Amino acid sequence: MRFILHTYGCQMNVRDSEAVSALLEAAGHVPARNEADADLIVVNSCSVRGKAEDKALGKIGLLCATKRERPTRIIGLMGCMAQRLGDDVFKRVPGLDFSVGTRRCGAIPRLVARVMAGETAIREISSPDETPDVPDAHGASGFAAYVTILLGCNRRCAYCIVPDVRGPEFSRPAREILAEIAALARNGVREVTLLGQSVMNYGRANAVWDASDAPSAQGFKEPFTRLLESVAAIPGLIRIRFTSGHPSGCTDELVRAVRSLPQICHHLHLPVQSGSDRILRLMRRGYTRADYLDAVRRLREAMPDFALTTDVIVGFPGETEADFEETRSVMNAADFDNAFIFKYSPRPGTPAADMLDDVAEEEKMRRNQILLEDQDLRGVAANQRLVGTVQEVLVEGPSLRNAARWSGRSPGNKIVIFDPTPATQPGSLARIRITRAAPQTLYGEAQI
Ligand code: SAH
Ligand code: SF4
Ligand code: F3S
Repeated sequence: MRFILHTYGCQMNVRDSEAVSALLEAAGHVPARNEADADLIVVNSCSVRGKAEDKALGKIGLLCATKRERPTRIIGLMGCMAQRLGDDVFKRVPGLDFSVGTRRCGAIPRLVARVMAGETAIREISSPDETPDVPDAHGASGFAAYVTILLGCNRRCAYCIVPDVRGPEFSRPAREILAEIAALARNGVREVTLLGQSVMNYGRANAVWDASDAPSAQGFKEPFTRLLESVAAIPGLIRIRFTSGHPSGCTDELVRAVRSLPQICHHLHLPVQSGSDRILRLMRRGYTRADYLDAVRRLREAMPDFALTTDVIVGFPGETEADFEETRSVMNAADFDNAFIFKYSPRPGTPAADMLDDVAEEEKMRRNQILLEDQDLRGVAANQRLVGTVQEVLVEGPSLRNAARWSGRSPGNKIVIFDPTPATQPGSLARIRITRAAPQTLYGEAQI
């Protein structure tokens, strides 16, 4: 069958979609050119905010409606909303052929075969604490790849649905991860991003190293830093990133690993969520404003070029104007390179859903807008400071808009557009002198 996947949500979903595509191809299906051309469509859904679910539900409803004209079309749902809605989804979306939970996406090729044999409305959803199937399949897709190292989440922040839909933390065995990354590197991948909701918790909830594994050369004791060191030893890999961070994971050992292992990019996505200690406590984030800023200070002291990005929620239950001003000021103090701002959305079954969602929608919008404007100014200033510096850019190739100019990404994950030299090669590091900065992009020239 000709298939297409529509992916909503975070990098974890992007990674799962990529694995499912590779498994479908291995089962003999072929990628469709576009949606109209596809006779198998899978929607990979996100539950993190009400709007994310509305989008996926709207999409899947429209797709199922097309089966009236194209009765042989197969439509499936996967991801966090599939997990959350369980059987209900078949009532909400008549015509849906299958729905797969977050820990069973490896089953999709088998489900497609069953639908082709005449079944429909197949539910393949485990309890979220079942040992997951983690397909290690990757398609051929450029120089950068995601690798999930930690599934689920144990933090249970008061507002968040992720622990319910992704289950408890499960760290993949280090050997399995290292084998997967080594295979990627042999196939030309130059940059990996290690994924986990609270990625520095790697190896805390279950054992990941065997007694027979070699001890850390640098004397690292924490499972995550040991993993970073082992990934950095894989030949061919030139860059390592990991996301998302949590202040409690920014230990001295972590800071030492990031500074001493040259492949690790000096960038971290470290969601702050709020700057008010009162709100942070209600959110059950497990740190104070001072803890957060302390982690930022230690990273920046060790690495002055360190880039930081973040997530913020505005309008959490009970957030006052004073709390909001604390968020504004923490963002200034941390001097983020980029920030994603979200309006609080109550999620069924979470502790915060029992609190009064008392910040009016217009007020959430206003706070959202103010933080966006603040961040735009900060982002432009951060980019301006890079003018005149030389950035190591992982070269992707000719840019989409103008093939004479090439593009790549800086260690801080900023897009850099530059004039190549005859020696510039896709998939290599190039030294680019930055000559101009726009809000979202840097421009420069390749150095010989
Ligand atoms: N595990 C990551 C976040 C995953 S969800 C971490 O904790 O760092 C991505 C972002 O969505 C969160 O950082 C948060 O800012 C936002 N988010 C999560 N639940 C939300 C909700 N109920 N309403 C609004 N935003 C939410
Ligand atoms: Fe959600 Fe908190 Fe876990 Fe992030 S750390 S996924 S915000 S519960
Ligand atoms: Fe969404 Fe699930 Fe990721 S809820 S943010 S796709 S873990």
